[in-house]
Amino acid sequence: MEQTDVLIIGGGLAGVMTALTLADSKKVTIVTKRSQKEGNSWKAQGGIAAALREDDSPNRHIDDTRKAGCNRNDLAMLHILAHEGKSRLQKWMNEGLHFDVTEQGELDLGREGAHSCHRVAHAGGDRTGKEMMRFFIEKLKGKVSFHTHWTVVQLMIEEGRCYGALFLNEKGELTLVKATHTVLATGGIGGLFTHTSNDSHICGDGLAVAARAGATLTDLEFIQFHPTLIYGEGSSCGLASEALRGEGASLVNQLGEHIMVNAHPLGDLAPRDIVARVMYKQIGVGNRLFLNISGIHSFHTKFPQVVQLCELANIDWTKGNIPVFPGPHFHMGGVETDEYGRTSLAQLYAVGEVACTRVHGANRLASNSLLESLVFGERAGEAILQESREQTSHFPFSDESIVSHFYNDSWEAPAKEEIQKRVDKALGIVRNESTLRSFIDWAHYFFPVHFHKKGSFMSKEQVETAHMLITATLIAKAALRNDVSCGAHFREDSKEVIDL
Ligand code: SIN
Repeated sequence: MEQTDVLIIGGGLAGVMTALTLADSKKVTIVTKRSQKEGNSWKAQGGIAAALREDDSPNRHIDDTRKAGCNRNDLAMLHILAHEGKSRLQKWMNEGLHFDVTEQGELDLGREGAHSCHRVAHAGGDRTGKEMMRFFIEKLKGKVSFHTHWTVVQLMIEEGRCYGALFLNEKGELTLVKATHTVLATGGIGGLFTHTSNDSHICGDGLAVAARAGATLTDLEFIQFHPTLIYGEGSSCGLASEALRGEGASLVNQLGEHIMVNAHPLGDLAPRDIVARVMYKQIGVGNRLFLNISGIHSFHTKFPQVVQLCELANIDWTKGNIPVFPGPHFHMGGVETDEYGRTSLAQLYAVGEVACTRVHGANRLASNSLLESLVFGERAGEAILQESREQTSHFPFSDESIVSHFYNDSWEAPAKEEIQKRVDKALGIVRNESTLRSFIDWAHYFFPVHFHKKGSFMSKEQVETAHMLITATLIAKAALRNDVSCGAHFREDSKEVIDL
């Protein structure tokens, strides 16, 4: 058992920003499922969007975000993201956070899908996430405790209040961390699918524990498919950033036809949901798809991460065509939060992709996620500081009650691959009532999930499988309930389509 002031579950950018805000005055413990350097933030390529140029403005950034999000965005939250985002980012830049500059020494801002101007700051070419994480992690050095290779099992909730969480530690032993405040920063759900741009271990743990704890989840059906996952050796081997299309790359099929030319006024830079659906149709008629990069000058210096991914997959990018397919990338839905990351449960916060701030609406604008992590990660830290001045915490569970809380019979688990295969079918780019119902019917056979059988707890693998099943079922139910197609949620049996 361990005691801390603030427990942060997840070590990506959002959790790190919350930790940084608190580290000088609170005992902060960060728990990660894998090593400190794994997770989606480290992989982020394109960059971070903010209205940093003279001829841009936060209001223009808001307009673009709303168009991409089909106007489902929460305007007040979006105002915070665009306006505060710009100033918070500038503050960090003044403190040494570095982005790539042109030969003239000006910020070298890139362009991505659905942005009306160049607005995306990047670092190390397409290594933005890695550079930002290095910068912020360095600032945390010696100030917080880290536990790596721990899997979250359950939040400790009593009368609508969170008191920490239970984990399986690196040895697979059950470990309790008591905390005055708990922050979910576990990332998204890409690992629910067979192929994803995400790290495969990111598969909805945060949503599952939040749901079991009774937190409100929202907009779960909105899952963004990124158009250009690199296809190598039968599977996805990482992302080819949308910034490539911002630099002039184009989506073509095996016949050399430019598939986006007549599909949308923005062509290759149309919003991701639209591009993904055009690709889905192309694949449906048996076409193979490529990102033609032949027009990009100095490709290997601008996009070193994409070059490395291609080389690892034996793809000869020098020939000008990278094989690609659309794959699950980002979850717009999540644990509902207010403007300070507060969830519906007291002393439980959520930041980053696991949270649903509603800034993204039905389809996230490219490169808004690092900005969201920075802004709402810091805001959560600020709110916790404020709240902890007003509150003290006691721990209402006896050791005995913790164990009996989990006592149950054994649980029969499906194989992880089986869940993924069924999720691919039910929750893909195009959905319908029948595939959603058959997923839910199949999953029901495995409920209720029993996390503990007499004498022993589940293994980490079993907990992960259970969380996948819970999260996927919640998403499928949300997708079934909503038969209106909007943004990234597309029902082919839709009675109504909201497509702006
Ligand atoms: C990309 O580089 O294309 C991904 C960036 C993002 O998801 O916003």
